[in-house]
Amino acid sequence: MPVTVLVGAQWGDEGKGRVADWLARDTDVMARYAGGDNAGHTVSVGEQTFKLHLVPSGIIHPNVTCILGSGMVINPLRLVAELDMLAGQGVDISPERLHISPRAHVITPGHLELDGAEERSRGGSAIGTTRRGIGPAYRDKAARSGVLTGTMTDPDTFAAAVQAHIERVNVLLRTVYGLPEIEPSDPVDAYRAAAERLAPFLADTTALLHARLEAGQRVLCEGAQGTLLDLDHGHYPYVTSSSSTTGGALTGLGFGPHEVNRVVGVVKAYCTRVGNGPFPTELTGATGDRMREAGAEFGTTTGRPRRCGWLDAVALRYAVRVNGMTEIVLTKLDVLAGFSELKIATAYTLDGQSITALPVDTAQVERVEPVYETLPGWQEDISGIRALDDLPAATRQYVERIQALAGIPIRLISVGPERSQAILNT
Ligand code: GDP
Ligand code: IMO
Ligand code: MG
Repeated sequence: MPVTVLVGAQWGDEGKGRVADWLARDTDVMARYAGGDNAGHTVSVGEQTFKLHLVPSGIIHPNVTCILGSGMVINPLRLVAELDMLAGQGVDISPERLHISPRAHVITPGHLELDGAEERSRGGSAIGTTRRGIGPAYRDKAARSGVLTGTMTDPDTFAAAVQAHIERVNVLLRTVYGLPEIEPSDPVDAYRAAAERLAPFLADTTALLHARLEAGQRVLCEGAQGTLLDLDHGHYPYVTSSSSTTGGALTGLGFGPHEVNRVVGVVKAYCTRVGNGPFPTELTGATGDRMREAGAEFGTTTGRPRRCGWLDAVALRYAVRVNGMTEIVLTKLDVLAGFSELKIATAYTLDGQSITALPVDTAQVERVEPVYETLPGWQEDISGIRALDDLPAATRQYVERIQALAGIPIRLISVGPERSQAILNT
């Protein structure tokens, strides 16, 4: 049972890329199972920073085989650009170590245009998507009108399928949104060229994964987005369009639950959210601004400022259950240095009633008021600390309280973006 699933426990950007990079030392195969280039995973190694959107973070480790699973939606132009960027940073991106499922779906220029058009038409109730075409691509997948990555084996057929898709979208742009049409020839030529480049990477990733599991190899499934952005388990419609929780790893890669022996939840020491939707512990004033500055909370994918707030233990307990989380990696603890006190939401009040569980209904989550527990802050810079006992007492108290509220162990604490800035909690 050598499969570890790594999931975001909050609204994304918890530091999954950084933690996947840490876990890569004990990993033979690393796979992305959901989402597309709406994800932005940052890995810092020494002086180098890698910003990954589609390729698993394991690519930086020469001995790790990487998979882009069938649950993903892939923009071929963005993937080619990412591969070029990685090659430019000295990473081996040969087809021997990077495999793309032929069953993943392609994001076309039509999906990108529709994402923008739909967001604009939502007006004040916009989702705040990354505008990477994610929702429209998954919609086509579910409607059985999408383009499979496997089509790239024949670049002419692929180009014709992309062109046909653009023409279908053009009808919508013109008649529904009153927008100018996409001129198909330019994007289609670029897509044909991308198919020629990417075809050698296509492989039966499910069979490959099973062969590796039978050989006793260790697999890490690198989740994208976060539990509260999951299509089924987040607060609809302020979600992404895929299964970002543990279940998505099974369907997005094709193996059974008995293979999974470890579910690592990445938890930021406070909360952030990009885009719209409920965020009970959000801090809209100076404290939130301070967190944003201290944590450099600006999106890796879109550069948007992230909304910031206190840690929400009600949402965390929910994430532990929804994912079957077995352990936590706590990230960005260093960012909280300098606050005189820290707060953790341990319950909510909803319409005057005290509740301890996250409401299912989106409108209700918009209305809840957090009930806070206050803990002492610490002033010391902890980014150079590598042993638990060396942390200030207030820091240890904060970590222990999160562990008690979550009900599962915190195995690793990250105190900086760089690979070595971590404390093992054994
Ligand atoms: P992901 O989407 O979950 O992989 O997270 P992102 O990469 O989008 O955002 C996390 C950001 O925090 C990145 O810029 C990381 O380099 C940075 N980061 C990760 N862990 C830590 C940490 O422990 N401390 C600090 N200060 N930064 C961190
Ligand atoms: P990583 O993997 C943070 C958010 C968007 C928007 C909503 C829907 O880096 O943690 P979409 O473009 O998916 O249709 O947007 O989901 N979102 C993310 N927020 N981190 C991400 O990925 C995200 N991927 C999508 O901001 O609110
Ligand atoms: Mg991110």
